[in-house]
Parts: sequence; C-alpha cells; structure tokens
Amino acid sequence: MSELLTAVVGVGGPAAAVVGGARLARHRFPAVHWSVIGLPTTVARMHLTYRDVMDSCGLTATPSRRARASARLRNTSPVPATPRRGRLRPNTGGFTIRLRMRPGQDPSDFTAASDRLRHAWGVQAVHVRSVESGWVELRVLGRDVLKDVRMPRVRSDFLRVPIALRIDGLPHVRDFRSVPHELVLGATQSGKSMYQRALVRGIAPQPVALVGIDCKWGVELAPFAPRLSALATDPDLAENLLNVLVDEMEDRYLLIRRSQGLSLDDEDAEITSDIWGLPKDERPPPIVLLLDEIAELFLTAGGKEEEKRRQRIVNALIRLAQLGRAAGIYLEACGQRFGAELGNGATMLRAQLTGRVCHRVNDEASARMALADIGDDAVMAATAIHADRPGTAVAADTSGGWTHIRTPEHDLADVSWACVEYAHMVPDMPSLAPFAPSVTLAATPVPATVKAP
Ligand SMILES: Nc1ncnc2c1ncn2[C@@H]1O[C@H](COP(=O)(O)OP(=O)(O)O)[C@@H](O)[C@H]1O
Ligand SMILES: [Mg+2]
Repeated sequence: MSELLTAVVGVGGPAAAVVGGARLARHRFPAVHWSVIGLPTTVARMHLTYRDVMDSCGLTATPSRRARASARLRNTSPVPATPRRGRLRPNTGGFTIRLRMRPGQDPSDFTAASDRLRHAWGVQAVHVRSVESGWVELRVLGRDVLKDVRMPRVRSDFLRVPIALRIDGLPHVRDFRSVPHELVLGATQSGKSMYQRALVRGIAPQPVALVGIDCKWGVELAPFAPRLSALATDPDLAENLLNVLVDEMEDRYLLIRRSQGLSLDDEDAEITSDIWGLPKDERPPPIVLLLDEIAELFLTAGGKEEEKRRQRIVNALIRLAQLGRAAGIYLEACGQRFGAELGNGATMLRAQLTGRVCHRVNDEASARMALADIGDDAVMAATAIHADRPGTAVAADTSGGWTHIRTPEHDLADVSWACVEYAHMVPDMPSLAPFAPSVTLAATPVPATVKAP
C-alpha cells in the first residue's frame, strides 16, 4: 500500500507541477503560453477534427460527381466535400488559415458558423474575412489579445499610423488620408490620452506639423512640446491659433487654385484638387491638430465677450473640419461628451468628424454621441466596456462596421523622449512660429529605458 502511495506521489507530484506551471504561464505569460502549448494543441485539434467540425457546422457541400461515382464503385456512401485548406500562418495571438469555398458557399455561411467553430476548436474567437474570390480567411484567436496588448510588427506609412490592436488581432490604423478627422470620446480615465499618446508616438517621425490645443493648462500636450509646431493652452491663444490655421488653409487653397491655372497651359500637368497633387517642392506639410478636451472650447462662464469668442472658435473649427482635408489639415478631437448641450455648432462640428472611437462611457447618451450613426450594437458594446480595461474602445470604420480595439500602454516619459528625438522633424512654418511652445529640455523626463542604471 505504501509503495502504491509512493508511486502515486512520485508520478502525481511532477504532473501536478507541470499542470500548475502551464496554468501559471497561461495567466502570466499568455503570448509565450500560446506559442509553446496553445498553438500546437489547437492546430492538432483542428486538423484531427476538421471534417467532423465542418460537417456539424454545416460547412460541407454535396460531394462532386467523381466522388459520388467512386463511392458507388466501392459500395460506400459518398463523403461530403469540405472546404480545401490553404496555408496556416501562426501569429502571437493565434493563426490565420484560408479556406477555399465549395460551390454554393459564401463568406456569410462561415461568419454565421464562427461561434460554433470557436467552441469546437476551444479557442477565444474565430473571425471571418472575405479575401480573394472563392476564398475566406479565418483569423483564429487562441487568447484574448486585448488583455495584454502586443502590437504586431507593422510598418507605419506616411499619415497611416497603427496605434491600437483590434480584437481580431489586426492593427487599428489611423489613416488621415482616408478619414481626415476623428472624434475620440470617453469618460475620464478611460484611455483617451493614451490613445493620443500612441498617435503622437507613431506620427512623430513623419514630416508632419503637430499642433495642440489643450485648455487644461497644457497638462496633456505640454510633454510633447519639442515635437509640436504650436500649442495653445487657453481659449484666447486657441482662438488666435485657429485663425492662423484658417488663414493657412486659405493660402493652401490659393496655391492649389494657382496650380490648376498653370496646369491648363501645361498639357502634361495634372489638375489637382488637393495638396497631394502639387509638385513635391511646393507641397506644404500636412498639419495634425490635436484637441484635448474639446468641450473646454465650447464652455463659457456666460459673459457676452466670452460668448462671442466661443462662437468665433467654433466657427473656425467648423471651417477647418469642412475644408481642411484638401489642404492637408486634419483634426483629432478628444472629449468626455460631445452633444448638442454644448451649444451652437456642436452637432455640426461633430458631423464632420467621421472617424469615431468611443472608450468607456458613464452613460448610454455619451456613447450615442459617438456611435449613434454606426448602430445600436456599437453603442451597447461601448457601454459594456469595463473600467478595469482602460484603453479599450469601440472604433467605427469607414465601411460603417465597428470593432473593439485597445491601445498598448505607452510610458509618457518614453513618448516625450521620442518627441525630443524627432524634434528635427518639426516642419518650418513661419506662420506657426509665434505659437511654438517653449521647450525646456531639462524639464523633459528621461525615459526609464535610458536612465542610468
Ligand atoms: N491601453 C492601456 N493599457 C493599460 N492602461 C491604460 C491604457 N490606457 C490607459 N490606461 C491607464 O488608465 C489611466 C487613464 O488613462 P488616460 O489615457 O489618462 O485616460 P483619459 O485621458 O481618458 O482620462 C492611465 O493612467 C493609464 O495608467
Ligand atoms: Mg486625458
């Protein structure tokens, strides 16, 4: 009996240690756990059960004539045809696999079955995407990629900056050329500034003028001062800065107009309706205007003069939002709420901010301010974001669809250090020079990674 007990303890002890270790690794190092244990197990399970799972999920098709004939010869019943598998590509959160659809199938069959596939393969999620004709791509996620955000290695292109991770494991890209203006809403501490920080980090190395308006005395944007072409920290300065930007926009329109006049004489030249068609040496740098807490620009203490200033500010913002795209001027507005209660012009400005990102909100009405045009399901998804997941948001894309995203955590010191590193990328724009923030390098925090040991 005691020998048996010793044997059980001898085998059971190490086995329990392995299982416990695997559980701990899954919890503490999900990416490593997925690569070492999760991926091989899931791939093996998928291959072993492929036919049965496809069959039970209704994703098989009637067998081909050849298969039916050969079954008849062998006196067996014909086997239903499964979608042919393409190459499987693993990644840090799961894998992708392409499937060749059978005649009569379409991507919506796979989308409808995605939850059943998720359960059958024991994974976190299965996302379906239609790719080239006849093929669908399954993005199988082995773990909750938004729990511990690791951005896939993707290249930043000019004015296309990957800043967050989507729930399907793909990067969420802020593409200024296709979505010129964006509204980022969320309750306080929901992750708006982190999103903006990620954007600044991503765009800092590019030849783009960054302009900030932060009426909370500059606490959010001042750390990026070395990379900013202009910064306004109170409504008076903001009004002057916006007037300069509107003048700059008008000058750019004149430049485009002039080039159109010239190109009518020159047969080879293309007629352009925005700055991107101008010759490179004449093309002005794009301007990204970061507005932290947009409501601060709308609120007044009630005085007549203040009310007039507010209206001038709002008018300038609306003009920039309406006409800025062609002049290469883009708006990135953050706020806790952005509804009609802010007064004249608020809803008109909001309608121009077509990109929508909604972090955790305190009530449904706030979510509706960002996502009502997208749909009720997007609004509900935003109201369901948990406070213990800051940085998580619902992002609406240009196609009217939406997805969950989460920004990776960026250390403020690292980002402000990047702003020092890329200070030489601040374009030469004399009109903005009076608004250039004073930069005291001594006050710039040194990131943890370059601190002396
Ligand atoms: N993506 C994220 N991952 C982890 N923590 C985050 C993330 N985004 C924000 N946080 C945490 O939440 C806090 C509030 O974020 P912040 O961006 O300042 O919110 P907001 O600007 O909406 O008030 C930050 O101090 C940070 O520690
Ligand atoms: Mg903030």
